[in-house]
Amino acid sequence: MGARRTPPGDARFALLGASDVDAAARVANSTIPPSPEAPAESVDGRLARLRARIERARATDQSGAWVAREDGEVVGLALALRSDGVWVLSLLAVSPAAQSGGLGRGLLQRSLTHADGCRGALIASSSDPRAIRVYAGAGFDLRPAMAASGPVDRAAIPAGLDALVRAAGPGDAVGTEPVDAAVRGGTRAAHIVQLLDVPDTRLYLAGRAGEERGYAIGREGRVIAVAATDEAAAQALLWRLLADARGTAMAERITGGQDWAIEVLLRAGLAVGPDGPVFTRGRLGTLRPFLPSGAYL
Ligand SMILES: CC(C)(COP(=O)(O)OP(=O)(O)OC[C@H]1O[C@@H](n2cnc3c(N)ncnc32)[C@H](O)[C@@H]1OP(=O)(O)O)[C@@H](O)C(=O)NCCC(=O)NCCS
Repeated sequence: MGARRTPPGDARFALLGASDVDAAARVANSTIPPSPEAPAESVDGRLARLRARIERARATDQSGAWVAREDGEVVGLALALRSDGVWVLSLLAVSPAAQSGGLGRGLLQRSLTHADGCRGALIASSSDPRAIRVYAGAGFDLRPAMAASGPVDRAAIPAGLDALVRAAGPGDAVGTEPVDAAVRGGTRAAHIVQLLDVPDTRLYLAGRAGEERGYAIGREGRVIAVAATDEAAAQALLWRLLADARGTAMAERITGGQDWAIEVLLRAGLAVGPDGPVFTRGRLGTLRPFLPSGAYL
């Protein structure tokens, strides 16, 4: 299915400039509910984090960052990032009052110009029917997904995880690269370092240094991402994240074929239900075992 185009040179759309950052953060804050993986924070705290995220995307991926305006006001934004030949949609939002007017489709098309020359592309979609139309219309394949949440049955946590999985820091992010090359089809150690900037976020690695079999990122039982080259490593990593839960544990974007994850999450006592789909395009890795993150996939 070919992408339908809004007219080129449409004055409603522009690259996101330095002076748009505040307004774009306000649009994102009022349009997208905080992700369950996000840290608990005040509105001011969330706005500051969104501003920093938008600034960073603008600095590293300028041609992926776009705004849509109505009557001169920013009412929508798209942020796309690329790393090692893989493009990801990090954020797409149109203010409620401006929705259903073609801005979302136009923003996605423009952020996809940043995918030129990339092998593959990934999107973590919301369940919004408009988002699903926009991504499918741009030639992406839909992978239905589930999410899991609930308290962890601590008695179910297997013994001996420490022999399989080690805690790591930003300096070890290079250990994720061979895993991501195989699983995602492209590396993104710099994005992992950014994820670890948020307090209480942990990185775990499976396998010996230099021979990593997988990695996992989470925050207090909220699974941010897991990728591995074999299911045994992926399951140990997922259990390690769940063992960090203080209250509700959560995993999202569990696509078909990730039965290794469903098995662990059900054994841990979490409830499994539907989630927004993941969309893929082009040449990626095995995508298995893989739980992609929301903002960096
Ligand atoms: C999803 C979102 C970005 C889409 O942007 P938008 O400007 O509202 O959508 P558009 O007007 O571009 O419409 C997109 C498609 O949905 C269709 N559409 C419009 N209103 C619709 C509705 N109420 N129900 C179903 N489809 C609808 C449009 O016809 C269009 O399809 P087409 O290109 O095949 O004609 C926007 O609605 C939004 O911010 N939603 C909340 C946050 C969110 O879910 N963001 C996506 C995160 S992955």
